[in-house]
Amino acid sequence: MSELAMEPLVRNAWYLAAWAHELDDGPIARKIMGEDLVLFRGGDGKAAALEDRCCHRGVKLSLGSIVETGLQCGYHGMVFDGGGACVGNPGERLNPSHRVNAFPAAERQKMIWVWTGDPETADESRIVDFPYPDLEGEWNFLYGRYEIAANYMFMIDNLMDLTHLGYVHLSTIGGHPDEQNIAELDTVRTERGAKYVRWMMNSTPPPAFVKAGGFDGPVDRWGEFEYVAPGTVLQWAGAHDAGTGGREDRNKPGGLVFRLLHQATPADEDSYHYFFASAVRGEPLDGAPNIAFHEANREAFLEDKLFIEAQQEAVSKAPERKLILREHDKAVAYSRQAIHRLQSTDVKQAAE
Ligand code: FES
Ligand SMILES: [Fe+2]
Repeated sequence: MSELAMEPLVRNAWYLAAWAHELDDGPIARKIMGEDLVLFRGGDGKAAALEDRCCHRGVKLSLGSIVETGLQCGYHGMVFDGGGACVGNPGERLNPSHRVNAFPAAERQKMIWVWTGDPETADESRIVDFPYPDLEGEWNFLYGRYEIAANYMFMIDNLMDLTHLGYVHLSTIGGHPDEQNIAELDTVRTERGAKYVRWMMNSTPPPAFVKAGGFDGPVDRWGEFEYVAPGTVLQWAGAHDAGTGGREDRNKPGGLVFRLLHQATPADEDSYHYFFASAVRGEPLDGAPNIAFHEANREAFLEDKLFIEAQQEAVSKAPERKLILREHDKAVAYSRQAIHRLQSTDVKQAAE
């Protein structure tokens, strides 16, 4: 079991590789788990992931275009289907040995997931379930992605200990540091990670909450966060005017109720894609609260990027040095235990 700050990658897992809408305008190139991939939706509309390298002369397939039968290489026009087989060889006969590597891919809930391990064990029922993007009308999501130069588990650490909010995010989603530090916290282990619920009763709403929720006094604020190894953090959160029964019924009408999905998908061991999607309950896509909240998150997550990349820079100078855990880090510790469990399954599978 690893006790290092930076964690090795877990290969046998599903990773969020793109938002579904990113494939609407043709193929995209994306490095996932050390693999240069091309992601596309073929003529049949099915999402696919291939190595981004044509078997003919090695050109990136992401420079190509979508045709009825698959992805056409931009150089000499060979066409590959979602399984990597060459199904078009202009001016020549098809040759079954002409193929590129394919990765299992699945599209669901407005996300494209890719399996980077043994294709035989790619079980779609293990893909994270986040139903809200399909519930348009109640939840209208805005999407973003940052490239962060750090090990993916630094993002999980960041989201599983929110005492950084009062310091890093004072002007956006934070709130008062003293109030953050005494938040009520209830943390449990889960089969695939960790979960906590956090309450800040009668607390100062941060600027983003005031903008999106229109609060003019203290609020009862909650955040429920669940880490699903290896790379997802789901968030159900919000606030109601203090003392109006939010604690008893979080999802009562009014207030500010939102959902967020955070995902750290490793590009490689030292960098990851930070995918994030947010929606404020009941708000149209272009409604001011939805936009204000998403913009505040975009800004806040850049603040995280600054700290996490600085952390990586310092840690990678001496990666063997251990870090410490504070009492607030219970969910961080549980999350690290969950990733260690997955790493050992990966190693076991490789040895079989
Ligand atoms: S390099 Fe792709 S068809 Fe020639
Ligand atoms: Fe943060």
